[in-house]
Amino acid sequence: MLKTIFAAFLITLIAQFAIINTQAAPLYGANVVKLEKSDYSYGVGSAEKKWCLNPFHTLDCVTAKDLADEALKSAQDNFSNDQLHNGPGDAYRHCYWSGLLTFEFGESEAKGFGDRHEDFPENPSGEKAMDLHNNGVGRTIAQQLDKDGKKGNKAALSTACKQAVSDGRLITKPN
Ligand SMILES: *[C@@H]1O[C@H](CO)[C@@H](O)[C@H](O)[C@H]1NC(C)=O
Repeated sequence: MLKTIFAAFLITLIAQFAIINTQAAPLYGANVVKLEKSDYSYGVGSAEKKWCLNPFHTLDCVTAKDLADEALKSAQDNFSNDQLHNGPGDAYRHCYWSGLLTFEFGESEAKGFGDRHEDFPENPSGEKAMDLHNNGVGRTIAQQLDKDGKKGNKAALSTACKQAVSDGRLITKPN
């Protein structure tokens, strides 16, 4: 029994390493920043990549990546294409992703993921500040929903992040 569990664990780890390395590959090249903004990827020299290569973190990293994909899709559904990079849709995506992470992992680990994701040398400082701010708003919203008994309510999170865009609580343009 224990042997089977251990074998399954090892196989999972090997699969995670394969996934991470495949995702890292397209980042070598000219599209570093563009890819970082539109996709959850492990950038070259990024804090995220280092953290995620620790076998004890890889499963959480795969979950975080799934949630990032979900947030991208949600932003594409709710905003027009020209708003998705450094615009209102980008702000919404960070708010929503960070909220999903907070539902899943709690505030502190969600902050860890959000912070590490922006922590790479090529990240322009204005964009970094914008993303970190919007991640923070997403965490606050998710914590409030949690208090209101709406933990995990994605529709409510989406509505609240859209509201935050229209209220001007999210930064929709980098400095
Ligand atoms: C906005 O995003 C939410 C969450 O992903 C989704 O349920 C909803 O259908 C989207 N709204 C529109 C208008 O597509």
